[in-house]
Amino acid sequence: MKIPKRLQPLVDDGMIDEVICQLMSGKEAQVYVVRAGGKPSCAKVFKEAKQRSFKQAVQYQEGRKVRNSRRARAMSKKTRYGQKEQESAWLNAEVEALYRLDAAGVRVPKPYGFVDGVLLMEMIADAEGYAAPRLDDVTLTEQQALEYHAKVIDDVVRMLCAGLVHGDLSEFNVLLDASGPVIIDLPQAVDAAGNNSAASMLERDVNNMRAYFGRFAPALLETRYAKEIWALFEAGRLQPDTPLSGRFEADTSSVDVDDLMEVIDDVRAEEANRRAPSWDEEDW
Ligand SMILES: Nc1ncnc2c1ncn2[C@@H]1O[C@H](COP(=O)(O)OP(=O)(O)OP(=O)(O)O)[C@@H](O)[C@H]1O
Ligand SMILES: [Mg+2]
Repeated sequence: MKIPKRLQPLVDDGMIDEVICQLMSGKEAQVYVVRAGGKPSCAKVFKEAKQRSFKQAVQYQEGRKVRNSRRARAMSKKTRYGQKEQESAWLNAEVEALYRLDAAGVRVPKPYGFVDGVLLMEMIADAEGYAAPRLDDVTLTEQQALEYHAKVIDDVVRMLCAGLVHGDLSEFNVLLDASGPVIIDLPQAVDAAGNNSAASMLERDVNNMRAYFGRFAPALLETRYAKEIWALFEAGRLQPDTPLSGRFEADTSSVDVDDLMEVIDDVRAEEANRRAPSWDEEDW
């Protein structure tokens, strides 16, 4: 095909050998199938900031660290430079997330590099070598739904242990190859510890997956993984291999009433002591 303008510099530099075709254009980006380093790969070209949508909302950016303080100041202003810096921070976020998650063992496309606003990554393929379908494109058996749901939950936990919440996880952002589900589309990933919306985003992500897989395996609709995972994370007890039940009960663990009464009596006695003037005080 004719080489798209945004990919030309990568072709000139020899990073891309050949542009094969364009995949469906998403809301935020265009994705091309290319050959890079001899391998079939995907090149994701981000659209201009003004063509992009909700994901750049302030809510997602909270807690992201901007290392350079001059940059941070510029980003907070509405200058051209500030907007450009904000733009590149946004584009970098997906690349950084991919490297971090790949290293943490989460099944995502392997990142190959980020040049001139173009993300090069592994192409997730089906058995014939074509771009893999999204969950939304397939019909599953109950058994497959249970198995893939478990894998996605496992990856969500790994991701959280690596400090990130996807923030836009749905049947449109999970591909399916021979190894199972592969999570894609991460520019909006949020910082799990530094973002006040992280808990609600995790809940939305996990519940989207429950609703999708629940169509094929209705038993999943009764599960409550989101709350269970977040409670463990908050308590500092979440590891990639922490066993999960899918059930969640708010902590109503029974209180030992005798113990509690003793504590109350002690406090009362202390308070009474404090109030009763000692002889010394009276003398004064
Ligand atoms: N590594 C990949 N391998 C195979 N196909 C891919 C890959 N990355 C993206 N795609 C395809 O390109 C589509 C768009 O990619 P992606 O979701 O990352 O972009 P987007 O523009 O942010 O999408 P949207 O905003 O519509 O969710 C995906 O739905 C998927 O079908
Ligand atoms: Mg997408």
